[in-house]
Amino acid sequence: SSTARKNDDGALEVGGVDLRDLAREVGTPAYVLDEADFRARARAFRQAFADYDVYYAGKAFLCTAVARWVAEEGLSLDVCSGGELSVALRAGVDPARIGFHGNNKTTGELRRAVEAGVGRVIVDSFHEIDRLEALLAGSAPRHPVGVLVRVTAGVEAHTHEYIATAHEDQKFGFSISAGDAEAAARRVEAVDGLDLLGLHSHIGSQIFDTSGFEVAARRVLALQARLAEVLGRELPELDLGGGFGIAYTTQDDPAEPDRLAQELTGIVEHECRALGIVVPRLSIEPGRAIVGPSTCTLYEVGTVKAVGLDGGAVRSYVSVDGGMSDNIRTALYDADYSATIASRRSDAEPVLGRVVGKHCEAGDILVKDEFVPGDLLPGDLLAVPGTGAYCRSMSSNYNHALRPPVVAVRDGSTTVLVRRETEDDLLACDLG
Ligand code: LLP
Repeated sequence: SSTARKNDDGALEVGGVDLRDLAREVGTPAYVLDEADFRARARAFRQAFADYDVYYAGKAFLCTAVARWVAEEGLSLDVCSGGELSVALRAGVDPARIGFHGNNKTTGELRRAVEAGVGRVIVDSFHEIDRLEALLAGSAPRHPVGVLVRVTAGVEAHTHEYIATAHEDQKFGFSISAGDAEAAARRVEAVDGLDLLGLHSHIGSQIFDTSGFEVAARRVLALQARLAEVLGRELPELDLGGGFGIAYTTQDDPAEPDRLAQELTGIVEHECRALGIVVPRLSIEPGRAIVGPSTCTLYEVGTVKAVGLDGGAVRSYVSVDGGMSDNIRTALYDADYSATIASRRSDAEPVLGRVVGKHCEAGDILVKDEFVPGDLLPGDLLAVPGTGAYCRSMSSNYNHALRPPVVAVRDGSTTVLVRRETEDDLLACDLG
């Protein structure tokens, strides 16, 4: 659904906007968000998962406009901090459609969530349940607070494989196998003002294969069946979490939402049938799969340096005006990205290149290996696609870099959703 295309000059156009014009208007680096693409992906999930609640995971990228688009497209919103909650509320998202995550929510955050009337609090520790109880004892909200219990199914999914042992050793969730998940559910059930609605399981990110979901669903639904006996009622909801993979390079092959929905529903229905329980109302929380492909980062080339490698080969180090402060994923996860020249056509022979930033360390790499035009020069624009998820949201001010703006493009027009930081912004926090 991307609207990106090369125009007659060989320049890249997104949302009908020539990125040379965009660079002149807002400068570089900039995150360029294709609004039609974002909405189309949100809608595709909404339609494919028609019987589900689809929570957009705001941690992937959130700003007021995006929270509003999410609501307009009929999705709910997953937030995982007071900061994300405040964006959602400012955008006018119906609080009943907000799910509040986090393994260490503060009393202040919980109070705000409860007072705002957030629809689901996904509890992640006994201490959090205590905090909620204390809070409700102080001033009971008008409606009971909907709660999901986050469980650890003992499955850690990775890109193409999943490991079904030895990953309980992490901070999230209540362990099913240790009995904590059942104890947490009973504890929530006993608190006045809390409405235990179901279980929640999130198994990982950038997953291409539903086999991890299958193992998790089997374990979570076994607990669901057990709780039906213990509590005397079947919990009405089950959240399967997010984590659906996207194509960062041409090698990745993500499933379409339709197929995902079919497979996940099939898995849950099959397990419920086997256990003799009713299929609960399902929900998912995709972040990356909605926002990731919608955005590219636009940079200007500053220097090009040919570096000789062992064996006589040469690598062209292309330095751009951003770096690990606007995309930490390559340095942090060894993530793969690609880059394309955005400002002109080049018929020059491609050479082995590496796109690097302007920060003061050698690991400041944006694109590890890419064939770039042999005639690349300072002033050329480069676009790195697929930077919508976890790039701006994990950006930093390393080296006092100013965070780039997020600019929406649509039908030939440009709207700055989040402006570029200024040195005054940074100095404002520095009290001298
Ligand atoms: N739900 C829960 C409870 C989560 O923890 C996450 C992501 C999601 C949903 C959304 O996952 P998605 O569909 O976006 O994969 N910074 C890493 C990813 C960390 C994901 C954390 N949790 C990255 O850049 O790849």
